Amino acid sequence: MTLNRHHRYRSNPAMRDLLAEVSISASDLIQPIFVSESLTQKRAIESLPEIYQWSLNDVLDEVREIVDLGIKAVILFGIPEHKDAFGSEAENETGIVQQTIKKIKAKYPNLIVIADCCLCEYTDHGHCGIMKNNTLDNDGTLSRLERIACSYAKAGADIIAPSGMMDGMVAAIRDGLDADGYHTVSIMSYAVKYASSFYGPFRDAAGSAGEFKGDRKHHQMNPSVRNEAFLEAESDVEEGADFLMVKPGVHYLDIIRDLKNTYHLPIVSYHVSGEYAMLKAAAKAGILDEKHALTETLLCLKRAGSDLIVTYAAKQFLSK
Ligand code: PBG
Repeated sequence: MTLNRHHRYRSNPAMRDLLAEVSISASDLIQPIFVSESLTQKRAIESLPEIYQWSLNDVLDEVREIVDLGIKAVILFGIPEHKDAFGSEAENETGIVQQTIKKIKAKYPNLIVIADCCLCEYTDHGHCGIMKNNTLDNDGTLSRLERIACSYAKAGADIIAPSGMMDGMVAAIRDGLDADGYHTVSIMSYAVKYASSFYGPFRDAAGSAGEFKGDRKHHQMNPSVRNEAFLEAESDVEEGADFLMVKPGVHYLDIIRDLKNTYHLPIVSYHVSGEYAMLKAAAKAGILDEKHALTETLLCLKRAGSDLIVTYAAKQFLSK
C-alpha cells in the first residue's frame, strides 16, 4: 500500500503559505466602540481587558488609531445618561450615538460607521424592546426601531445593525429608511443571534443586563437548534437585509458555514465579549499564547465562511 505523505504540504513555511486558504487583513475586521454620555474621558471596562467606554471628548483618539491601522469599519454602542421604559434617548437627535456618528464622519468621512440598533442599552428595565403586561411587545417595538434607525441615518451612519432579534425588524427599518430617503443606508442584521452566556462582559460594558439578568431566551435562539437559523436568515433576506450576522461566532461556526453555503449576502460573524474575555483571561494566566490563539480564532471564523468579523481584538490583532 502507498504511504500518502501529506506532510509534504507542510514541510516548510513557504509551502504552508503557498497553500493557505484564508488570511486575515484589516479590511476583514470591524472594531466595536462603546461611547458613554456620562463620561468626560475614557474608562476601562473591567470584564473586557484593553477595551474602554469612550466619551464624546476623546472618542476620536480611538478612531484615529483604528483608521491608522487600516480598519475600514466601526460599530457603535451608546450608553445614555438617562434611561426610561421606552428607551426614548435612543432616537434623540443629540443623543450620544448621533453625536458620535457626526463627529466621526466630520473627521473621517470614509470610515464606515455602523450603528447598533437595539433598545437594551436605553431602557431602564434592560429589555431589547418596549414591554406590555410584563412581556416584550414585539410589534410595538418595531416602530421604535424604525425611528431610531432613521435618526442614526440622519446623523450619517452608513449601516444600521438591528441586534434585538425582533420579528420583522429588518422590514420595519427598511421601510422607515426608504420613506425618509435613506435608500443608500444598508442594514446589517443580527439575523441569527443565540441566547448566549458569552454576552456577559458586553452587558457590563453597556449596562444592559437588567433585573432579569439578561435572560433573553424568549426571543434569542436556543443554542441547541440549527433549523431556525435558516428561517431567521431567510426572513431577513426577504425583508431586505444587506448583510447577515451570526452571533456568537466562535461557538457557532457550523451556522456561519450553513449561511455561507445558502445565501449570497456577505456573512458577518461576531467574536463576542465572552469569547474575547476568555481568551484574554487564559493568556493572562499563561495558559495560552495570546497572539497565536487570537490569529487562530480569526482564521477559523474566516474559514467557516465569515466575510467580515466584528471583534474587540481588531486593533490588537493589527498592532501586535
Ligand atoms: C444588543 C447587543 C448585545 C451584543 C451586541 N448587541 C447583547 C445582548 O444581546 O444582550 C453582545 C455583544 C457581545 O457580547 O460582545 N444590543
